[in-house]
Parts: sequence; structure tokens; C-alpha cells
Amino acid sequence: MPVGYFTDSLHSDVRQGLGTAPRTLPPKWFYDKRGSDLFEQITRLPEYYPTRAEHEILTRRAPDIAALTRAATLIELGSGSSRKTRLLLDALTAGGTLLRYAPLDVSAAALEEAGAAICRDYPDLRVAATVADFETGLPLSDEPGPRLLAFLGSTIGNFDAAQRRAFYRTLSLALSSDDVLLLGADLVKDPGVLVRAYDDAAGVTAEFNKNVLHVLNRELGADFDPDAFDHVALWNTEEERIEMRLRSRLAQTVKIPDLDLSVDFAEGEDLRTELSCKFRRESLTAELKEGGFTVRHWWTDTAGRFALLLAVPN
Ligand code: SAH
Ligand code: TRP
Repeated sequence: MPVGYFTDSLHSDVRQGLGTAPRTLPPKWFYDKRGSDLFEQITRLPEYYPTRAEHEILTRRAPDIAALTRAATLIELGSGSSRKTRLLLDALTAGGTLLRYAPLDVSAAALEEAGAAICRDYPDLRVAATVADFETGLPLSDEPGPRLLAFLGSTIGNFDAAQRRAFYRTLSLALSSDDVLLLGADLVKDPGVLVRAYDDAAGVTAEFNKNVLHVLNRELGADFDPDAFDHVALWNTEEERIEMRLRSRLAQTVKIPDLDLSVDFAEGEDLRTELSCKFRRESLTAELKEGGFTVRHWWTDTAGRFALLLAVPN
């Protein structure tokens, strides 16, 4: 990334998102070292089923994915700990086609840890990790094809419909005709199950949500008191998405010296931090089609909670 990219982008995100109501912050600022560690803890919570459901599908289908794609490069967006990815690496290595693994994430801490572990466990694999923001472009270039581009964990659901359209466009420009997209998407289900997955009893998700305030305090000299906000996870029935918010417990003013900004929160006012859209087969297939991809395979876990799909450029 260009020097100063992340500082500039944090400054403009915070100025735009907190400068006017409704207050919002984009999710990529959750993921410093502590945020990435907290997310890893989320994936192990009893209430957070998506990781286990996707793991189940990958365990069963990775050999099919390897045979169908015969990928020479596995690119992964938002790779995090790359834990589930090992199922793909194993199958593609067994298939004898894989040369290179290219994880891309905004979290340098997560990439370094995951990259080192994979270099150790797959000594013949070339690992090329990139710190980048997948919302502002995909630095994919000289990897050998065919390429399998994985986007797991239903991170696609953290985009709203307009962001997803822009993302499919970016992707279809970056991929060539023999590349394949592997997308993990969480499905619409009982709202109680969904809300619990984003508001766990142990309070790990609440800590994760508040981590963005710690990041702003450290990076911008802000004086957020994380205890003065409550973690809220709401099911939006109309939009079929979970909305994560931080709700101000009292009327308060927060100072952000590095931006010369001071932000007033009314009692009960929400700062929206994250969306997690949930999908249905028909509408997701249709929006992918519109975005330049044809769904070729659609797999779910046995309980039908989560989908993994293979799609090719139109
Ligand atoms: N794929 C992993 C992690 C999912 S969490 C899994 O399925 O468990 C989302 C991941 O996307 C995190 O690792 C986060 O650091 C990364 N991420 C979030 N926003 C990003 C952005 N704008 N650009 C690149 N990576 C991003
Ligand atoms: N992609 C994950 C999801 O939507 C990210 C996530 C899980 C998350 N739990 C969270 C993001 C809590 C913010 C807060 O399921």
C-alpha cells in the first residue's frame, strides 16, 4: 500500500463517520492485533456457528474443489488466521496442482502469524502475503493460473448491497476466465440463533465491538471510555441483517485531538460499527449473476445454516 494509506484512510473514515449523525465506522478498524485475536476467540464460541458450519462444508468438499479447479494459486481475501484454509491447502496439495498461496488482509498481525505457521507446515508452498484493503482494489498480478479466489467466513455479508455490487465488479475485473471464486455466505435463519451469534454470553463479541474504540484512542489520541458504551446486536427483519452498534450509556462528549474533532453523543445514541447480511440462495445467485459471476456449485452444512459456493466469471 502507498505510504500513509492506512493513516489517511483512518482519518477520513473517522471524520466522515463520526462527524455527522447517524454515527458510523467502517469495520476494517476492528482488526489490530487485539481485534484479530478477539475474532479468533469468537470463532470458537458455542453461539458462533458460522465457522464450524463452514469448516464442516470445507472438510467434505475440499477434494471436489481441488478437482474442479485444479488451482495453481490460492488467493484468499480477509484470510485472518487461515485456519479453515488449511483444508483447501491440503486438498490442493494432494491434487498436485498448488504452487502458491496468496493471503490478503488488512491486519498485518494476523497475516504474519498465519503466514509463518503456513510456511512452517507447508515447506514446498510459496506463500506471498499482502497487507491491503480489499475495498479499494485487489493487487493481484503475476500469480500462476488457474487461480482460486477464496472469500470465506461470510465477510461478504459485512458489505451492504451497494458495496457488494462494487466488490463483484472489482473482482470480475481482477479475475480471468479460467479463475474461480469460492464464496462463504451465512444464510437467513431463526433471528434468536442469529442474535446470539453476535451477542454471546461470555461477552467476547462485546469486547471485539468495543475494540474499535481502543484503536481510535491509540491511533488518534481519542478519549473514548469503552465502558460508557453498550454492545448491541439487532436483527433487521426488512434488510435481513444483523446490525452491530455501540450505544452511548449517557450524554457525553468524546475528543479526537488528532482530527481536531469533538463528538457529542446523546444518551442512547448509537454508533453503527458493523453489518452482517444474511443470504438466500436465489437472491445471492442473482446478485452474483448481475455482478459478473455464474454460480456452478452450492453446498451447505447438514443443518443448512451456511453456504459455500463456487462461481465462475460470466
Ligand atoms: N476468513 C477468516 C476471517 C474472517 S474475519 C474466517 O473465515 O474466519 C474478516 C477478516 O477480514 C479479518 O481477518 C479482517 O482483518 C479482514 N478484513 C476486514 N476488512 C478488510 C479490508 N477492508 N481489507 C482487507 N481485509 C479486511
Ligand atoms: N464476517 C463475520 C460475520 O459477519 C465478522 C464478525 C463476526 C463480526 N462477529 C462479529 C464483526 C462481531 C463485528 C462484530 O459473521
